[in-house]
Amino acid sequence: MANPKTTLRELLAETTSMALVASAALPPDPVAAGNPDEAVIEALKRVLGTTFCLYLKTQAAHWNVEGPTFGQLHAMFGEHYRDLWEAVDDIAERIRMLDAYAPCALHRMMELSAVACWDEVPPVPEALVALVADHEVAGALVTEAFGVAERANRQGVADYLAGRVTAHAKMRWFLRATAKGLPV
Ligand SMILES: [Fe+2]
Repeated sequence: MANPKTTLRELLAETTSMALVASAALPPDPVAAGNPDEAVIEALKRVLGTTFCLYLKTQAAHWNVEGPTFGQLHAMFGEHYRDLWEAVDDIAERIRMLDAYAPCALHRMMELSAVACWDEVPPVPEALVALVADHEVAGALVTEAFGVAERANRQGVADYLAGRVTAHAKMRWFLRATAKGLPV
């Protein structure tokens, strides 16, 4: 029978070496690598581009949705795009508070975005499923930006981004719950 102490030691060593491998695979900490505010600004720009594209997709869904659930979906997309539009302004203003300029070209917003734009709005429920996935991506990106802001000691930005994580989670929930009731 294996000595439990040896086993534990082995397990700890294995875990440590796994952690070392994992940390070696990670990109360098953007805060430690340079100017912490630069890292926050870059993270905010990616959040801005992603929020902008998600805003545009959601408003396009509000305009173009069709079918027997039109009224309900038009209203929900309306609430969501207004949240995202307001967030676009808030995020850009946080970039300005850090003495950087907010991107001003549509192609720049698209380059910065972690979600792809639509050429046309897919039918329901594909549109809902696609937006659920987009909010997952956006939530993960905002969470990452939150970590960058915390490490840079920009607590105001971190507080704001924490609220955005919740906002994306709530919109994702509404979209998912709505998609469940619809025939595929
Ligand atoms: Fe409208």
